[in-house]
Amino acid sequence: MTPTIPPARVYVSADALAYEVAKELMKLTISHTSDRPFAIALSGGSTPKRLYKLLAEEPFHSQIPWDNIAFYFGDERSVPPDHEESNFRMARETFLDSVPSASYRMEAESGKAEAYASLLEDHLPKDESGVPTFDVVLLGIGADGHTASLFPATQALHESQRWVVMNEVPQNNTVRMTLTYPVINAAHHIWVLASGASKQRIVQGVFAPTPSTPNWPICSVQPTHGSLRWWLDPEAAQGATID
Ligand code: 6PG
Repeated sequence: MTPTIPPARVYVSADALAYEVAKELMKLTISHTSDRPFAIALSGGSTPKRLYKLLAEEPFHSQIPWDNIAFYFGDERSVPPDHEESNFRMARETFLDSVPSASYRMEAESGKAEAYASLLEDHLPKDESGVPTFDVVLLGIGADGHTASLFPATQALHESQRWVVMNEVPQNNTVRMTLTYPVINAAHHIWVLASGASKQRIVQGVFAPTPSTPNWPICSVQPTHGSLRWWLDPEAAQGATID
């Protein structure tokens, strides 16, 4: 089956990419009229840092309705919340500490995946299959085609029931907590942010697939009823034909 090519846009720079994502996020949160907090699953790594820092600055900080937004995490490393590798620490330091929104850390260091799944059960609306639905899931991609902590050749790729799992990643000699495809794919908006030359191979494979293109974990991010969109900078998009 020919993989579907997701909608994508190439921005003039990584800064422009981050600014446009912040603008679109602000638009969605302002137009969210429900009393239920707008639910965003944050990505870790370095790519989203520009975006997160922008959210703490003007014109976004004073316009975004922070009190009706709740932040969750797409994945977390098995480290304490103050560890330099913690996605929670990165998000806290870049913007969460400067906004009044609720945020829900993944306690990956204690392996409490079921507890986080219960949190999603309690806080998020469900789709027709009973799967918790985020308003926005932010994702990055690794040079090996992983996303969140869904790494190639790991068990979590095959998880079709549980919404949050601890995933052993032998190639990185680590165990991480991650949302699984059922939850990621149930989101209303799935945004993949890719910036930098190290993403070129994956971007080329996704936007110009050939029979030999590996089935990377990011390729199984396919929205069940929402939308998927890639946000790219020129370095990541180089060599790919993006309409
Ligand atoms: C993490 C992320 C991970 C990240 C990619 C890309 O915990 O590291 O969730 O999936 O998005 O590894 O990372 P960079 O943005 O640092 O390239």
